[in-house]
Amino acid sequence: MEDQLLGIKNAAMSLILDSKDQKELEEVMLQFLGRSGQLTLALKELPKLPIEKRAEVGTLANDVKKTVEEAIDRKRAELSHQKVEEKKAKIDITNPGILPPLGHLHLITQAIAEISEIFAQIGFTRVRYPEVEWDWYAFEALNFPDNHPARDDWETFFIKTEPNPKKGPMILTPHTSSGQIREMERKQKPPIRMLNIAKCYRRQSDVSHTPMFHQFEGLVVDEGISITHLKGTLDYFAKSYFGENRRTRIRPYQFQFTEPSFEVDVTCGVCNGKARLPSLRSGVSGQGCRLCKEGWLEMGGAGMVHPNVLKAGGIDPEKYTGFAFGWGVERVLMMKEGIEIDDLRLLYSNKIDFLEQF
Ligand code: DAH
Repeated sequence: MEDQLLGIKNAAMSLILDSKDQKELEEVMLQFLGRSGQLTLALKELPKLPIEKRAEVGTLANDVKKTVEEAIDRKRAELSHQKVEEKKAKIDITNPGILPPLGHLHLITQAIAEISEIFAQIGFTRVRYPEVEWDWYAFEALNFPDNHPARDDWETFFIKTEPNPKKGPMILTPHTSSGQIREMERKQKPPIRMLNIAKCYRRQSDVSHTPMFHQFEGLVVDEGISITHLKGTLDYFAKSYFGENRRTRIRPYQFQFTEPSFEVDVTCGVCNGKARLPSLRSGVSGQGCRLCKEGWLEMGGAGMVHPNVLKAGGIDPEKYTGFAFGWGVERVLMMKEGIEIDDLRLLYSNKIDFLEQF
């Protein structure tokens, strides 16, 4: 029996050594260790041995089995390593490489990063407040009367839930101005220098409106804040974002949460605020600018924070004053030279061939 086992071992080892590929090796394995393999059958004979020999032969049989199994494992690893090496040898390194497709940030995400950076330079802290909001923050605390048109469901999306006893119905925030009150609550006390950039929602959808869009809202509250601080901030933003030669102007307007309120215009980048296109001879031609009305483009709203709003945010309007502004990210982006998108809805359509262009 011992001789038989040693014979099996020698035969197995030499066949394993000679196997040229995985398939041959698997065959050798079956031949010795399979259900009716030579070694398996020999092991089955063990119980038939006289009892005094069984232990000794049993140990030998186990050794043989272990040696054969280990040899198979080693050979298997060697063969697979060989295969990788062969494959490597076949790669033609002079072939030009294939570039993996590389994504990039969405156009609006890029704009948000740029706007945040501009305001960070003058000490505005970037915050982001809820998109699902209570009426209190979006309207009531901002001095909106009950019957204001923005509050009805033609303009605003309402969430079907029980109204909060103190904060009213739940809505999708229609503007980032809701962040004004939230920031006053968070900081408790001026100075406040906030930049809230978030998604807003309104019931609108056409070439220049999407139901979801982005606004950036600035709020500054401190002692002695005046319109000059607002105007300086507007000019700084227009120059940083649109270009050094741009100027801003403010026109009287009406918003519930600011008094006085303004619309902010920035000089047109095409005619440079002249309303007429430059001609080769005289510098100013008779041709009107296609892009703007009289040299100016409308950027958005701004104003001095209404005392009622400061009060609603827990701030003493006798001691503190503030200014605020709120503009559309999509809108200022479209006002940047060189960007022309015929239908704003394309921005959110997931059309890769469109988005790849920016
Ligand atoms: N929330 C206004 C809107 O969505 C924009 C706005 C106007 C924001 C004046 C302000 C502001 O902070 O002072 O139309």
